[in-house]
Amino acid sequence: MIIDINVKNKDIKYPIIVERNSLNKVNNYFNLDRKVLIVTDTGIPNEYINTVKEKCKEPFIFTVKQGEESKNFDNYKNMLEYMVKKTFTRTDCVIAIGGGVVGDLSGFVASSYMRGIDFYNIPTTLLSQVDSSIGGKCAIDFNGVKNNIGAFKNPNGVLIDPNVLKTLDDRQISAGMAEVIKMSITSNKALFNFIEQSKDLNHDLEYIITETLKIKANVVSIDPFENDLRKVLNFGHTIGHAIEALSNGSLLHGECVSIGMTYMVSDEIKDEVKYSLRKYNLPVSITNLNKEEVINLIKLDKKASGNDITIVYVSKIGSFEFKKIKVDELKEYLK
Ligand SMILES: NC(=O)c1ccc[n+]([C@@H]2O[C@H](COP(=O)([O-])OP(=O)(O)OC[C@H]3O[C@@H](n4cnc5c(N)ncnc54)[C@H](O)[C@@H]3O)[C@@H](O)[C@H]2O)c1
Repeated sequence: MIIDINVKNKDIKYPIIVERNSLNKVNNYFNLDRKVLIVTDTGIPNEYINTVKEKCKEPFIFTVKQGEESKNFDNYKNMLEYMVKKTFTRTDCVIAIGGGVVGDLSGFVASSYMRGIDFYNIPTTLLSQVDSSIGGKCAIDFNGVKNNIGAFKNPNGVLIDPNVLKTLDDRQISAGMAEVIKMSITSNKALFNFIEQSKDLNHDLEYIITETLKIKANVVSIDPFENDLRKVLNFGHTIGHAIEALSNGSLLHGECVSIGMTYMVSDEIKDEVKYSLRKYNLPVSITNLNKEEVINLIKLDKKASGNDITIVYVSKIGSFEFKKIKVDELKEYLK
């Protein structure tokens, strides 16, 4: 299945290939007949990197340490220096093979090297396959603030091979499922029902990834620069981000979004939402949640403009509304 992103008047156009075993055919989809900087991390199995490397005319590999800390300025700078040293030109390209960390970092490098060179993404986590690899947002963390230096750099192509998920650990799969469930709750009831009833996730993954991508593709095509509609993707994130900060790294982002979503749905659908999240081993509550701390952290969050905040609230599965509220009113939702 190929999903085309095509944003008219904005010069944004690229294919997303979703197909089992497509990694072995990467050269059918991407132009690898040039210098290629393959960016990856230490947790990505070598077999994926070698499969792509073998198809490149002039491959170079840049490996960063696995983990969020790698989205840093030193890696960004070192990568640019490496490309200068290897005489990369404007007609060469960068390929990310990894999760959101590798994708965000290398996308930002590709956006700025010689004012932008071709960038392909091969996401290898479920989260990056359904979410971070499309939409063009890329960034590094700077001065202790996550994602605060970056760019919009749309890829020239995204290749999603669900087979690479076989080596990803179960907890990371669940974290990705949180984003899948998030998008189905706001935008596709049939997909939500399918996920709720699925008996074999591995078997159903290709369909689930494709349907989720269609939701995100639609959102980013309508709102490529995050002016309005794209905020729907923040469903569960306002409280989720605060929980993530309070968890001191013990919870994954998707797990925090999972908990965050449970506060942003009506009583009518809460049990059903929790059932689906639990089914994919996601947490739906947190003990001793300190509401004051959560509110204070949200006040610091860049998304809170002044004392107002826009939350995404779901009364019925498959729909959503934006609500502009005072940050302190969040206490009502945290009950
Ligand atoms: N740009 C966006 O729109 C966007 C959206 C959401 C999240 N993000 C960013 O994405 C990042 C999180 O991404 P993530 O959840 O993919 O985490 P990640 O990139 O840190 O990957 C998680 C772990 O899985 C390992 N891994 C990856 N693929 C594997 C595979 N196939 N087999 C075995 N191990 C594998 C990695 O080595 C890593 O240790 C955050 O930095 C976040 O800010 C960006």
